[in-house]
Amino acid sequence: MEEKLRAIAQEAKQLLDRATNMDQLNEIRVKFLGKKGELTKVLRGMGALSADERPRIGQLANSVQADLEDYLNHSMSEVKNKELEAQLAGEKIDVTLPGTPFSLGKNHPLTRVQQEIEDIFLGLGFSIMEGPEIETDFYNFEALNIPKDHPARDMQDTFFTGPEELLRTHTSPIQIRTMEKTAPQVPLKIIAPGRVYRRDDDATHSPMFHQVEGLAVDTRITFADLKGVLQIFAEEMFGIKTRTRFRPSYFPFTEPSAEMDISCVMCGGKGCRVCSRTGWLEILGCGMVNPRVLEVSGYDAEKFTGFAFGMGVERIAMLKYGIDDMRLLFDNDLRFLAQI
Ligand code: DAH
Repeated sequence: MEEKLRAIAQEAKQLLDRATNMDQLNEIRVKFLGKKGELTKVLRGMGALSADERPRIGQLANSVQADLEDYLNHSMSEVKNKELEAQLAGEKIDVTLPGTPFSLGKNHPLTRVQQEIEDIFLGLGFSIMEGPEIETDFYNFEALNIPKDHPARDMQDTFFTGPEELLRTHTSPIQIRTMEKTAPQVPLKIIAPGRVYRRDDDATHSPMFHQVEGLAVDTRITFADLKGVLQIFAEEMFGIKTRTRFRPSYFPFTEPSAEMDISCVMCGGKGCRVCSRTGWLEILGCGMVNPRVLEVSGYDAEKFTGFAFGMGVERIAMLKYGIDDMRLLFDNDLRFLAQI
């Protein structure tokens, strides 16, 4: 019996040594240690032994069993390791392979330019105001000193949604709406960005475009303040070397009125195709708030003065990025937008 036990142990170990996968190991386990396994059979036969042999052989059988179990566990973990190694080798990742490209979104150039304009004026102490895109005739025209029969309305023909209701043609009505609310408080310094609408459609005009309006009211505001603020704006927006000039102009809601030019962003003022060889680019309208506009909005024009300005965001974006057709900004063609 002793012989037999040793033979079983030896045979089992040999088989275990040769096994290369878990299935084989399991088979060996069943064959020797299972319920009907060889070792189990031997243990069952113990009853036939004599009483003095039984303890010795019993002990031996137990130790053979424990030894085999150990051996089996060891073989199992070895096989498992080998299998894992083989699996890892098969799944090796080449980290130098190019990844799947994904494109990161970004803001539309008009949004970016508008935010840049806002940042500059926020830095100068202005706050941001908004107003409705469907405006009344009163706020869009009358209160801004543009009566019904005034020729200034011609340039701002728009879409009417009712006899006295229209899509606003500029952001200037926000001046009135804000002053009405704050009068007679000063200082008042606001900018008003937003969409505006006109009956225009060509390479440099769109039926919908964006403006940023500016307004400052206080007791001693002068034209020098207007020039100073807009000079800083021009330098921040287009570069420190940018020069400005103010040409007399006309707006019903300002008196006096001016058009501000900046030195050409392309040639620096020498004269090129972009500035039509003049060295200057027209960029916004401005002026001292017409006393009538102050009075309509509740500010005593004897006590207070103000300056105002209005600029087109598309125009500024086109100059900044060298875009020659405004419609490109509204086509939503990613090949164009991604370049900016
Ligand atoms: N509202 C004018 C326009 O759309 C722009 C403008 C000019 C606004 C002069 C102003 C200003 O506030 O003072 O053509």
